[in-house]
Amino acid sequence: MLTNINFSARQALSGVISFSTCTIMVLLALAFSTSAYATAVKQAPYEPDVAAYRTALFLANMTPVPWSQINDAWADPISNTTDSISGFYALAKRPGGSALVEQIKQALAGKDTQALYAVTTRVMATALLEELSRAHNGLEDGSAKAALLRATALYRAFEDGIRFLDRDGYRSTGLAWLDVNSAAGSSGVLGAGTLETDPEKFGAALSIISDYIATNYAPETFTARLEFNAAPENIAASGASIHLAFTLPPGGTIDDQDPFPMLVLNFEEGHGIDEADLPLVAYGDMLFDSPVIFGEVAQNLGVSCSTCHNRSDINRNFFIPGVSHQPGAADVDGGFFNPLFNDHRSDSLDTPSLRGIRLTGPYGRDGRFGSLRFFTRNVIVNEFGGAEPTPFMLDAILAYMREFDFLPNSKITTDGNLTDEASDAARRGEILFNTEYKNMNGQSCATCHDPSANFLDRRAHDIGTEPPAYKGALAQAFDTPTLLSTASSGPYFHDGSQPTLGAVVNWFDTRFSLGLSKDQLADLTEYVETVGGADEPYQAFDDVDTKFRLAFDELTTFATTLNILIPMKDAKHALIMINTVAPDLAADASTMKNLDAKPDVYRLAGLLNSVASHIKKDDWDAAQKSWNEFKTLQDAVAEGMF
Ligand code: HEC
Ligand code: HEC
Repeated sequence: MLTNINFSARQALSGVISFSTCTIMVLLALAFSTSAYATAVKQAPYEPDVAAYRTALFLANMTPVPWSQINDAWADPISNTTDSISGFYALAKRPGGSALVEQIKQALAGKDTQALYAVTTRVMATALLEELSRAHNGLEDGSAKAALLRATALYRAFEDGIRFLDRDGYRSTGLAWLDVNSAAGSSGVLGAGTLETDPEKFGAALSIISDYIATNYAPETFTARLEFNAAPENIAASGASIHLAFTLPPGGTIDDQDPFPMLVLNFEEGHGIDEADLPLVAYGDMLFDSPVIFGEVAQNLGVSCSTCHNRSDINRNFFIPGVSHQPGAADVDGGFFNPLFNDHRSDSLDTPSLRGIRLTGPYGRDGRFGSLRFFTRNVIVNEFGGAEPTPFMLDAILAYMREFDFLPNSKITTDGNLTDEASDAARRGEILFNTEYKNMNGQSCATCHDPSANFLDRRAHDIGTEPPAYKGALAQAFDTPTLLSTASSGPYFHDGSQPTLGAVVNWFDTRFSLGLSKDQLADLTEYVETVGGADEPYQAFDDVDTKFRLAFDELTTFATTLNILIPMKDAKHALIMINTVAPDLAADASTMKNLDAKPDVYRLAGLLNSVASHIKKDDWDAAQKSWNEFKTLQDAVAEGMF
């Protein structure tokens, strides 16, 4: 029933319906720059108070509103800032700063998001206006330049809101900034290129900026907002949509982790089969890298399965304020990606590795899904708000995931015994691992982590890692995780609360009073680390095997599915593939070292786009022709490409 849709769902729906043309242009621009790979340009650091303002606004959009995190955003340092001090501290150091801090503290105590928006926006605008007026007064004594720099840094609080939502305002303030900077004069380099100051032009341009800021970010009253972002007041008051395609606030990142996990695929490692000869797997690999299968928010951010489960493993970097309780974790049913799927509980979980996934069911940290297929459908539709996948898409993504293998490890055999390469300490640890402990219900570690069955028992247990939700409630049980390939997949436990395998071993010793000595703890840790180890956990890159080459090989492999999809006249799946691969090819071209070959990569992306436009016109002969041209060009340029 429609009346049951919660507030943020309606908010999102109205946002979609009231798209302004401007928003659509923003979305298009983003759609073309979206990449499933780490090609995003790193953001320059923010001033700490600007970062606090933007992070707190971002969090104010969540349902329920995470007030303690909003407080923390102001009271604690945020990453990717110019200085590791809190927003409050940075703000306090500005002229009149302590009064401004006091205003924000009061607004936070009031727990009213509209009021918080109004107060913090006005505070940031006031600080900016103060710097602009200091610049004005400082033209005589030479302090104008420094004030301008501080003003520019503060202007970033609002800049994307102006750019994306008020084209005219962006043009006029943009020109004014240029004028201000040139009119401030320059002593040039070694006397050359000296620019005289131009006080009149300087003053005029400054007032254009100050007027714009005063009107749009420090008005008497603010129009009530459906979405909290840096939209200028004149746009919000006009009733136009202020829906801004999501951008991450400072400190948020979906960039790949470094070092890059090694991917081990069974068909490749075990059978020497080329992925291009396995179209279903290749198509599934593409879907695993595709934000296109998800809903609007994930798509705009460029989030795909591989963003979190990078190379079948994890992405320790992934962090979105309000969604992740720590890096590498996400609350996948918190409503951020899909407002309809909001359980109103803050239960962010550490992302599990998917290595050996075909052998490790049931699925979910709590093992609530017996079927990997149902789990995957739930991820796409419910967690990330995507359209219902076709049976072919689920077949493909499963066919791909079923190839994920554990990392080769020469220190253990496939039935879980140590080889000659293992250390003596690991051997002593193995005995402790197989010892039954009275305080652990007479069980050994191996009872649950069965070495002959991939170090798991495919059952859920309550070992006391999460307290019951309320007194008398059933305890939280978790599916026993495998210990294979874990040495590089920390942190550990469902909540990522244990930083190292050694910490986990100590936890068991304390929790179950195992009474292990210091040496025994070290031995048991050595054993667990040996079992979880790998000959090569990370992908090595060099001048020849670059990240670009890896991405290029992958993307062109995905494209080979057209060899099957075009003869089948399967428009839907061909277009999903092209909408994923063409923008990624273009985005990856920007990371190429070989500048001469860059135009060829753009040309390849262009040819894929023309395949798509022919398909949309149902002209399959022309589509085939463009696809043939793609293959010819790829053959011609492949060698000199890298
Ligand atoms: C925003 C990060 C994120 C994205 C994107 C993501 N996942 Fe996950 N994944 C998680 C987290 C967190 C869990 C643990 C959730 C749980 O237990 O309910 C998880 C659990 C899983 C599991 C269960 C693993 C196990 O051992 O039980 C599978 C399978 C899985 N994801 C597959 C996928 C697929 C397929 C996609 C893309 C369609 C995807 N995930 C996208 C974060 C993510
Ligand atoms: C009753 C079954 C059981 C026994 C016995 C048991 N474990 Fe576990 N183990 C689990 C479960 C369940 C988890 C997951 C807990 C969670 O995620 O909160 C786990 C998690 C772990 C992890 C973290 C893996 C990861 O990827 O997060 C390690 C390491 C581990 N156990 C080692 C041991 C050692 C060493 C012993 C013996 C001292 C032991 N376990 C005994 C069930 C068991």
